Amino acid sequence: MMIVGKKVKIAYFCSQCGAEHSKWQGQCRECAAWNSLIEERVPVKRKAGAVVARETQLLSEISFDPQSGYLSGIAEFDRVLGGQLLPGMTILLGGDPGIGKSTLLLQSADGYARAGISVLYVTGEESLPQIRLRANRLNISGTDITVLNATSLEEITGVLSEKSFGVVLIDSIQTISSGQFDSPPGTVAQVREAANQLIMLAKSTGFSLFLVGHVTKEGLVAGPKVLEHMVDTVIYFEGDQTHLYRILRATKNRFGSVSEIGLFQMQGGGLVEVSNPSSFFLSGDMSRPRTGAVVTGICEGNRPLMVEVQALVTPANYGNPQRVAGGIDNKKLALLLAILDKRCGYPMATNDVFVSVAGGLRISEPSLDLAVMTSIASSLTNKTIDPKMLVVGEVGLSGEVRAVTLIEKRVAEAAKLGFTSVVLPQSNVEQITETSIELIGVRGVKSALDRILT
Ligand code: TYD
Ligand code: MG
Repeated sequence: MMIVGKKVKIAYFCSQCGAEHSKWQGQCRECAAWNSLIEERVPVKRKAGAVVARETQLLSEISFDPQSGYLSGIAEFDRVLGGQLLPGMTILLGGDPGIGKSTLLLQSADGYARAGISVLYVTGEESLPQIRLRANRLNISGTDITVLNATSLEEITGVLSEKSFGVVLIDSIQTISSGQFDSPPGTVAQVREAANQLIMLAKSTGFSLFLVGHVTKEGLVAGPKVLEHMVDTVIYFEGDQTHLYRILRATKNRFGSVSEIGLFQMQGGGLVEVSNPSSFFLSGDMSRPRTGAVVTGICEGNRPLMVEVQALVTPANYGNPQRVAGGIDNKKLALLLAILDKRCGYPMATNDVFVSVAGGLRISEPSLDLAVMTSIASSLTNKTIDPKMLVVGEVGLSGEVRAVTLIEKRVAEAAKLGFTSVVLPQSNVEQITETSIELIGVRGVKSALDRILT
C-alpha cells in the first residue's frame, strides 16, 4: 500500500463489489470480476474514537407508528417497496442506463407530492430545463416538487439541513461527490461516502431516501452493488430496451417481501402500469396447433403469469452444436438437454438448440423445466402441441416430474384465460379441489412428452 502524505493513501477498489485491494491486479479477489479495479486516493484510517456514554432502550419500549408510511399511488411501485414507503427508509434503484430510472423516479416523486409529502428531487445528470421538459412530457405539473441541480454532497446536505423534506431522491449517486476526497466522482470511495452520509442523514432526520445507481459493466464507475449492503431496500429496473415492458424487482427488502415484481410499459408519455399482466407474455396465434412453442404458468411473487416458451432445433452443421438460451440460464438448458437425451431418447448431441421465453422475460423458476423440454422435443420431432394446453412441472435428473408451488393459482389463472387442459405433476393434482379445466397428471418426462406431442 502506498501512503501519499500523512493523511492519504492509494488503494484499489473493485467497481463491481467495492472490495479494497492494496495492489492492482487483473481480477477482483472478492467477486472475481475482471478489470474492475480502480485506483483511488483515500484517507488513511482514522483513529478509534473515544468511548462515549449512551442511553440504551428496551425493544418493547421503542415507539413507532405502523401507519406512517407514504404511498406514491403507483400500485406496482408501492407493492415492490413492500406496500409503503416508511420514513427513514433508504432505497437503491439500480438499472442499466436508459432503462427508465429517472422517469420512474420523477413519476413516483409526483405521486408522493400529490399525496401531500414534500419532495426534493436532486439531479446531478440533467439540467433543470431538461427535468422540466421531462416533467412536461410526463404531464407532471411539479408544483409540489422541489428540484436541485447539484453534484456536491456538501451542497445537498446544506439544503437538507435548512429545509425538511419527506422524500429525497438522488439521481444518480454516481454523480455526487464530496470535497473531502480528491478522487473523481463515481469512484468507489466517493460513491460510498456520499451514500453513507445521505443514509445517516435520512435515518437521523427521518426522510425517505431514493438513490439511483447505474449498472456499470466494468471500468471507471462504481456500480450499485457497492451500495447494496448499506440500504434497506434494493430494487432493480430491468427489461430489454428493444421491448416495451419493464420489470421492477426487489432483491433486498428489510421491510417486506422480495418476491413481488412490478410490471410497466414504457410509452410516449412515460411508464404505464401493467396491472393485469397474466396474459402479457403470451404471443402469437393461440388458435392452431403449433410446433416448438408451449405456454407455462409461472408465479412471480404471488402473481401467476402465463408465459410462452419457444424452441428451435436444427441439425448442427459445423463442429460443436450450439446451445442458445434467452430468458433462462444456459447451464439449465444444457441440463435439460442431457435429460432429454439420456432419459427420453431424443438425440440432442447433433442438433443446434435455441430456446427463448417470449417477451424477453428472465425466469429462474424450476417449474419452467417441463415446458422447455416440451418445446424442444416438439421442434425436434415436428410434432404439434395443443395451443390451449398449459404445461407445468419441475424436472429432476432422473427424468421425474416434481411438484411445484402455488399450483392452484396457476391453474385458476389458466382457466380464466381460456386454457382447456393443464399437464402438471401427479403429486400436485390432488391439491386442486375444483376447476373447469382438464387436469393431466404426469410422473415422468417421457410419458408427459408422449401425452403432449401429437
Ligand atoms: P430515463 O428515465 O432517462 O432512463 P435512465 O434514467 O434509466 O437512464 O429513460 C430513458 C428512455 O426512456 C429514453 O430512451 C426515452 C424513453 N422515454 C419514453 O419512451 N417515454 C417517456 O415518456 C420518457 C420520459 C422516456
Ligand atoms: Mg437517468
